[in-house]
Amino acid sequence: MSLLLSPYEIKGLTLKNRVVMSPMCMHMAADDGFVTDWHRVHYGARALGQAALIFPETLAIQADGRIGAGDLGIWSDEHVAGLKALTELLHGFGAKAGAQIGHAGRNADLPGLIHIAPSAIPFTQTSPVPRELAADEIPALVKLYGDAARRASEAGFDVLEIHAAHGYLLSEFLSPLANTRDDEYGGDAKRRYRFLREVLEEVKTHWGDRPLFVRISSSDYAEGGNTPESFLEYGRWMKAQGVDLIDCSSGGVKMVKVETYPGYQVPAAELLRKELHIATGAVGVIQSGRQAEEILQNGRADLVFVGRQMLRDPFWVRTAADDLKEIIEIPTAYTRYGSVWLDTKA
Ligand SMILES: Cc1cc2nc3c(=O)[nH]c(=O)nc-3n(C[C@H](O)[C@H](O)[C@H](O)COP(=O)(O)O)c2cc1C
Repeated sequence: MSLLLSPYEIKGLTLKNRVVMSPMCMHMAADDGFVTDWHRVHYGARALGQAALIFPETLAIQADGRIGAGDLGIWSDEHVAGLKALTELLHGFGAKAGAQIGHAGRNADLPGLIHIAPSAIPFTQTSPVPRELAADEIPALVKLYGDAARRASEAGFDVLEIHAAHGYLLSEFLSPLANTRDDEYGGDAKRRYRFLREVLEEVKTHWGDRPLFVRISSSDYAEGGNTPESFLEYGRWMKAQGVDLIDCSSGGVKMVKVETYPGYQVPAAELLRKELHIATGAVGVIQSGRQAEEILQNGRADLVFVGRQMLRDPFWVRTAADDLKEIIEIPTAYTRYGSVWLDTKA
């Protein structure tokens, strides 16, 4: 049996294989961030397709922190019922559910919004200039992350992921290109990490000792920005705070053309895994079963996050199994009248 299709255990949670559906904003929520039929069908189909762990898109911790209109929210207790029904649906089809919680900071695409950021530096020359957060405003934001973690727990999620990537609020604080503060929240790596440190402390009080991931932008692809090596330090602090897995994405702090190719972000996952002895997630142009298996067998990551391939193919796990010449569990309904699941020529 391949590693890709064998179970993986993390903090007492067993995933039936190592395929994770990466969080992807659909902008299909009802007004005010509520779950709709779209989410039930879209994510439910991937659960039926045997993805072990499904992250619905980023759940916004504040209405003004949405990446865009139509994002799912977790900023009020009223969001819990819809999210709970969604996790129950995913559980019913044998998948585990992950909650990625985030705030878009200066990169929120919401018309008329006064954006917040660590420093008054726009994303591009034509982007709105964000308002620099005062240090005494940060504890209230930290609390919003904690409230979101409590709601994620009440909604039945199995994994919590803090979105600290892609140039959104926490990622901005971590990057010297977006954070030029000279107070307790900026100036050196330790102070740039402080907001994330406080968020992790706060969410743990609500989430407890359960699987906790952080998504990072391992590279800003720009002079003076973060590199995978910067995350040796940040990652060590995350590990000391009880983070179980670092999900290694990249980019979003600077508008730069990133050269992408199969597995382009895997070296960062490999570096952190080998140097820090922490579990990592690999993501980015991971397309085939054999490519995913190479990443796992060579000890470069523990879980494989699949994004766009999972949009193209809800049954990507089966496609990957075909590539690995393996057979996976068949939904019983698909076994009637001969196995269409197994026989692609049927
Ligand atoms: C439509 C779309 C929406 C996305 N939304 C999110 C998101 O909400 N949170 C996040 O961390 N990444 C988001 N991403 C990034 C994906 O999770 C993933 O990291 C990226 O697509 C690279 O993986 P892939 O090459 O397998 O698609 C999004 C990507 C796409 C294509």
